Amino acid sequence: MLSLNEEKFINDVFLTLKKYISESADADAIIKVKSPETLKEELPLLSSQGISHDELLSEFKAVLENSVKTIHPLFLNQLFGGFDTAAWVGEVASTLLNPTMATYEIAPILTVIEKRLVAELLKLVGLEKGEGIMVTGGSNANLLGMLCARTDYNPSIRQTGFSHNNFRVYISAEAHYSFDKAANIIGIGTQNLILVPSNEKGEMIAEELERIIASDIKDGYTPIMVGATLGTTVLGAFDSLTEIARICESYQVWLHVDAAWGGGALFSKSHKHLTKGIEFADSITFDAHKTLGAPLVTSFFLTKHTGILKNTNRGGGSEYLFHEYDNSDWDTGTYSLQCGRRADALKIWLLWRFHGTEGLIRRTEHLLNLAHFATAEIEKNPRFKLYHSHYLNVCFQVTSKTHKDLSNFTLKVRKALVAEGKALVNYAKRADGTVFFRLVFPNHQTTTEHISQLLQLIQEKADKLELSTEE
Ligand SMILES: Cc1ncc(COP(=O)(O)O)c(C=O)c1O
Repeated sequence: MLSLNEEKFINDVFLTLKKYISESADADAIIKVKSPETLKEELPLLSSQGISHDELLSEFKAVLENSVKTIHPLFLNQLFGGFDTAAWVGEVASTLLNPTMATYEIAPILTVIEKRLVAELLKLVGLEKGEGIMVTGGSNANLLGMLCARTDYNPSIRQTGFSHNNFRVYISAEAHYSFDKAANIIGIGTQNLILVPSNEKGEMIAEELERIIASDIKDGYTPIMVGATLGTTVLGAFDSLTEIARICESYQVWLHVDAAWGGGALFSKSHKHLTKGIEFADSITFDAHKTLGAPLVTSFFLTKHTGILKNTNRGGGSEYLFHEYDNSDWDTGTYSLQCGRRADALKIWLLWRFHGTEGLIRRTEHLLNLAHFATAEIEKNPRFKLYHSHYLNVCFQVTSKTHKDLSNFTLKVRKALVAEGKALVNYAKRADGTVFFRLVFPNHQTTTEHISQLLQLIQEKADKLELSTEE
């Protein structure tokens, strides 16, 4: 089926990718920073005539060269990163196989793989009798949690829509912004997404949650969901699930647990206690593309309520897609929000098979050790001021003798770091205006030597900027 030219092209592409993978880890720069104007200039225009394989290969190489090397050990900017060979092979194969996960008929082995992964995760969180599905990201798993909560409140709301708009959903002030989007999409309106205050560690204050729910009920509102977070995006805080679950139970409110980031603790012996109470969740978000090191997107939605996914997501397709056949019980499209659905299960399946659960635990402990090491290094270096450290999140500012405003100074240092392109670490801004580096550890390629290197890079930038007096 392949022509000689195509065969050569595929070989060349794979050699190029192999080189990219092996050289990226030691590359001097994560990105050669260029302006959008320059990239626009360099990028060829779409043309009426096609180009040769050789030309295509060279343009393909230019795309690699101009991309951020998220597999580099100093890519610590977001809650994903690094490289896993087994998972990458799974990713490539999913695209090649190109099934849709809608029906067993089209994705037989992949459906069995996805269901086995879901079953394993359900077991891990103590909800063996539940069900689950892979979704297009942690954000969408949070959305699905809200939709299921709505169904749970009123099973016919799918057909009838809202008869009132008094629904309320509660999250902590530190929760992920996807809940805001979800409140919009499901139609309760973002003004009905209530931010419960959190303590100085970033954990939802359970007493405040109870107080607000009780007062809302008095005022005629209908609480339908609490979204608790295990591992907040900025501070790595874990809400107290046992407390929150008790409140949800007594007010009959759905408890959704966003464990997109903190779910990694389920794979740790030293930090598993942080997930205490997860078994009380009605539904859970889990991202294997974060701490487990699978490529984006590898997200799961889990729930203890068998049947709720179908009640929430069903609709249409039976005349041409969801036929009655021997294996129709295995079709996942009938309870997914999507029609065409990628086979995201394969990459995490191969990753998990290769490393084994013990291997995943070792990897997670490695990440936690990195966070521990970074915290200690920051604490002992007067150049840095630790703001907060918990789980895999280490937040710190850069100190200065000449700049009074450390937030501003830290921002400047970060800007210089990004411009150099040797390391990427994000920053976050608090409600009071405080800015700090938010160093996170999802990247399995990172070692303690890399952290020392990173802190050295940051220190160099700070030393240079120390002399410039402008605030
Ligand atoms: C706590 C938390 N929940 C949800 C998400 C969204 O996950 P995704 O990027 O997979 O949509 C994130 C993203 O970083 C997160 O930090």
